[in-house]
Amino acid sequence: MRADYDKLTQIMHNIVDNAFNYTYADGTVTIGAERDNGSVIISIADTGIGIAKEKQERIWQRFFRDDEQDLVKGTSGTGLGLAIVREYVTMHNGEIWLESTPGAGSTFYVRIPVFAAE
Ligand SMILES: Nc1ncnc2c1ncn2[C@@H]1O[C@H](COP(=O)(O)OP(=O)(O)OP(=O)(O)O)[C@@H](O)[C@H]1O
Ligand SMILES: [Mg+2]
Repeated sequence: MRADYDKLTQIMHNIVDNAFNYTYADGTVTIGAERDNGSVIISIADTGIGIAKEKQERIWQRFFRDDEQDLVKGTSGTGLGLAIVREYVTMHNGEIWLESTPGAGSTFYVRIPVFAAE
């Protein structure tokens, strides 16, 4: 892909970091990539705690954190990770979305054109 190396690294780092943080120790994180016409679609799937439907829109907001999940996992962060990810994906004319089922897990998808403009 023709893209910004540091920003792509940050995108992957933040999503994979979340996948591990919000998945129990015996869970699984699966990373995939496939070509889709002029784009690459990257998927990061976890078998973790999942995200309730009503929270799925809010996770992209700066400083949004789910307190209930802290109780479950004891993790702490700033709530900036996904806001930065979405900004970087947009810079690459890409898209980001997720599918999630509470109690079963989440899959984050990132689509970035192969020749993404900065
Ligand atoms: N894979 C996931 N499974 C379950 N919940 C998630 C997942 N990824 C993100 N979330 C939820 O979305 C919130 C926002 O994620 P984000 O990465 O922006 O912040 P953070 O992980 O809390 O902190 P930071 O990334 O800044 O250290 C998280 O606090 C969590 O509630
Ligand atoms: Mg995070």
